[in-house]
Amino acid sequence: MGDMWEQLARYRKVKTLVDGSRLLLRPLQKGDKQALVDLFARASREDLEWFRSDAADARVVESWVDNLDYRRVFPLVALVGDKLVGDATLHFGEHYHSHLAWVRIFLDKAYRRQGIGTLMVQSLIEIARRVGLQQLYGEIVTTQPQVIQGFLDMGFQHEVTLRDYFITSTGETLDMAILVLRLVDNAGKF
Ligand SMILES: CC(C)(COP(=O)(O)OP(=O)(O)OC[C@H]1O[C@@H](n2cnc3c(N)ncnc32)[C@H](O)[C@@H]1OP(=O)(O)O)[C@@H](O)C(=O)NCCC(=O)NCCS
Repeated sequence: MGDMWEQLARYRKVKTLVDGSRLLLRPLQKGDKQALVDLFARASREDLEWFRSDAADARVVESWVDNLDYRRVFPLVALVGDKLVGDATLHFGEHYHSHLAWVRIFLDKAYRRQGIGTLMVQSLIEIARRVGLQQLYGEIVTTQPQVIQGFLDMGFQHEVTLRDYFITSTGETLDMAILVLRLVDNAGKF
């Protein structure tokens, strides 16, 4: 088991962007603290609504780095030079959820629509397979149909919609699409 996590810590992926710059995907490291704080500090108010905790608060983001433990949360970051432009995470379930994980992703606005989100989620899928997970979940508000479509294109299924599962800072409730990717098909097994 130790070997598997050491190998995952060395996970790398590169991609050349349309402007010719080089994008690197690798697991978040302790030294990325300021770059990660900066990424969320650049996020718009609307984007910050999608987070479970207040990512605009540097202390919150710092605590993610301070408590870094790949077995609990596996964060894959995207870098262009020294700039951290994306953060995609696998949140592993425990006990009766130990066969699944939740996927979350956030990209700098300037780096969207270039296939980076797709590459990051595909990488997380690869990592989830290596860890031996059976299912991946995504939660996306239904006011973002284009993001839902992106997940469907990667093989996720729209399992169910939870009505009013999400509340905005102004008190508006939104419906949440629960998307699932089954890495192992248990259908038909008793
Ligand atoms: C969701 C997000 C990660 C997508 O990343 P991305 O790098 O822009 O996505 P990609 O370029 O790989 O696009 C994948 C597909 O998603 C869909 N898509 C994503 N954003 C879209 C948009 N603004 N308009 C239309 N389609 C969009 C398209 O189907 C796209 O495929 P295409 O480019 O071939 O048409 C990014 O927009 C983001 O960080 N958003 C804010 C946070 C968020 O909503 N997270 C999702 C909840 S976990």
